[in-house]
Amino acid sequence: MSENIIHRRDFLGRLGKVSLGTLAAGGLSVQVVNAQDQHNQGTWKPVSERKVRVGIVGYGVCRFGAAFGFQGHPNVEVVAVSDLIPDRRQGLMKACRCDKSYESLEVLVKDPKIEAVFVATDAPSHARHCIEVLKHGKHVMTAVPAVLGSVEDADRLLEAVQKSGLKYMMAETSCFRADCYGMRQIYNAGGFGRIIYSEGEYYHYHSKPIGSFKGWRVGMPPLWYPTHSTAYYVGVTGKRFTSVSCVGFNAGFPAYQPGANKYSNPFTDEVALFKTSEGGSSRMLMCKGIHKLVVERGRVFGERGWMDGMEYHGAAKELPDTSRPPLPPGMPAGGHGGSHGLLSNEFITSILEDRQPLVNIYEALAMTVPGIIAHQSALKDGETLNIPQYG
Ligand SMILES: NC(=O)c1ccc[n+]([C@@H]2O[C@H](COP(=O)([O-])OP(=O)(O)OC[C@H]3O[C@@H](n4cnc5c(N)ncnc54)[C@H](O)[C@@H]3O)[C@@H](O)[C@H]2O)c1
Repeated sequence: MSENIIHRRDFLGRLGKVSLGTLAAGGLSVQVVNAQDQHNQGTWKPVSERKVRVGIVGYGVCRFGAAFGFQGHPNVEVVAVSDLIPDRRQGLMKACRCDKSYESLEVLVKDPKIEAVFVATDAPSHARHCIEVLKHGKHVMTAVPAVLGSVEDADRLLEAVQKSGLKYMMAETSCFRADCYGMRQIYNAGGFGRIIYSEGEYYHYHSKPIGSFKGWRVGMPPLWYPTHSTAYYVGVTGKRFTSVSCVGFNAGFPAYQPGANKYSNPFTDEVALFKTSEGGSSRMLMCKGIHKLVVERGRVFGERGWMDGMEYHGAAKELPDTSRPPLPPGMPAGGHGGSHGLLSNEFITSILEDRQPLVNIYEALAMTVPGIIAHQSALKDGETLNIPQYG
C-alpha cells in the first residue's frame, strides 16, 4: 500500500502518554487510553499451571494461524497444525514450532489429544469448520466473521455451540483495540449512559482483489465483513441492532461489474444505519472504494459522555481503569492495534476458568448477522429490514 494511505491510529500512537485529569465544565475531558500497548506494562498472573492442548488451522495470505501467539502462551501446547496446501502447512509448523501436522482440519479434529482449535481458514468455511470442531468435542476460536453471508449458517452454528456446551469465541480484533476496550470499561461503569449514536468504520481500499483461498474476497459484499465496525457498538455495550437501512455504492472496480463475482454483488462500499435495542442509532460501514483509505475505528456518543478514539469527554467524575490486561511475559501483542495476543489469552483463560469468553457466540452473531441483513437492505435500495436476535 502506498504511503499516502491514512493510518489515523498510527498518528494517534505518536501522541504520547496518558494525560489524566483535565477537568472540563461539569465533568472530565481526559485522554483515558494510551495509544501505546498499555497491556504490556502490568504483571500477568497465571490462573492455572495447566497447558491447553491446541490445534491451529489456516496459514493463508494473512498467515493468521501463527499471528495470535498461541505458540508463545505459557498455558498452551500447540499439538498439531494444518493447512490444505502443503507449503503453507510446513510454514505453519515452523512458525508455531510444532512438529505435527495434518492434511486438513477434518483430520486434525480427530486427534483426541487436541482440546481446542483455532480456525484461521477462509471466511466462507468458518461456520462449517467451527461446527466440525465442536462436533468433535473441542473448544473453538475462529477468525472473523463468524459466518459469511448466511443467516442459516448462523442458526446452525448457534445450535452447535449450544448443544456442545463448549467454548466458542470469535477473534474480533476491534474488541481488544485500546480505544474500543476503554470504551467498554467506561460504558460498563456508566460513563456514557445510554448510547444515543455510535459509528464504526472499516475502510479497506483495494482496487484489485486480495488473492484468497478459492477467491472468496473477490467481489464480496462489503458488510458481509462487518465486525471491525459493529464491534464499536455491540462490543462496547453488549446491546443489539434491531433494524437496518443500508446504501451501497459502486466505485467501478472490475470485480464489481455485472457478472464479475460469484456473489452477484454490485457494491464496493456499504454504509448502514442501524436502530439499536436501547433506542439509539448507529452508522456502520465497510468501504473498499475510498481512495487509499485503510483504517478501522469507531466512536460512541452517549447521554453522559462521548468518546472518539482515545479521549473521553463527559460527566463522569471518575473513570475506571481502561488499560488493557497484561500479556504473559514474552508473548507478543500482535497486530490490529495489539489485539491478537489478548484475544488468544482471553480464549485460553476462558477455558481455564470455565467461563464465557468475551466474544461468545451471542456477541459474535450480534456483530456479524446485522451486516448480512444490511447488504440485503442495500440490494433493496435501502428498505428497512429487521435483524434476527440471538440473545
Ligand atoms: N482483523 C482481522 O480480524 C482479520 C484480518 C485478516 C484476516 N482475517 C480472517 O482470517 C482468516 C484467514 O485469512 P486469510 O486471508 O489468511 O485467508 P485465506 O483465504 O488466504 O487462507 C485460508 C487458508 O485456509 C486453508 N484451509 C481451508 N480449508 C481448510 C481445511 N479444511 N483444512 C485445512 N486448511 C484449510 C487454505 O488452504 C488457506 O491456506 C479469514 O477468515 C479472514 O477473514 C481477519
